Amino acid sequence: MKIVTRSAEQTIALGEKLGALLGGGEIIAYTGDLGAGKTTMTRGISIGMGLGDEVTSPTFALVNEYHGAGKSLYHFDMYRITSSEDLETTGFYDYMDGNSVIAAEWSENIAEALETLGQDILQIDIKRVDDDTREINISWKMKGDEGLETLGD
Ligand SMILES: Nc1ncnc2c1ncn2[C@@H]1O[C@H](COP(=O)(O)OP(=O)(O)O)[C@@H](O)[C@H]1O
Ligand SMILES: [Mg+2]
Repeated sequence: MKIVTRSAEQTIALGEKLGALLGGGEIIAYTGDLGAGKTTMTRGISIGMGLGDEVTSPTFALVNEYHGAGKSLYHFDMYRITSSEDLETTGFYDYMDGNSVIAAEWSENIAEALETLGQDILQIDIKRVDDDTREINISWKMKGDEGLETLGD
């Protein structure tokens, strides 16, 4: 699904709609350059999940947590994660449960780990077209998809 937004507010509104659909157990895997709008989209997702709009970049903390009634959002920045050992030290695997959504910026850095997880993955790629315009590509990879199955046992 390809969507073009023409302001940060539109990207937040799109994130809100997506966030309202998430039940927990999903992983959002972002790709897109610095300033593309990954954190902005996550702000919308947090709002849609009922977790508020106070979402900031997890660059320094590595992971920011947002908790609400029975739901949590864990927002990771994988920019500096370059090995599976690095990933483990972030606690990434401990955050996954059926009531939580994980949103990872720079997910290309953990692509291998994501493939072996067998979780539902929402892939979101954001491209900057100009100052206010973004092209957002969303694809949904269900657990049990052929691609994931072939990597299994
Ligand atoms: N259509 C748009 N969608 C998202 N962000 C936009 C858009 N137009 C302008 N922006 C601006 O681009 C910047 C995106 O920053 P941010 O979400 O932190 O990016 P990233 O997390 O990908 O590095 C913000 O300053 C935001 O206001
Ligand atoms: Mg960001």
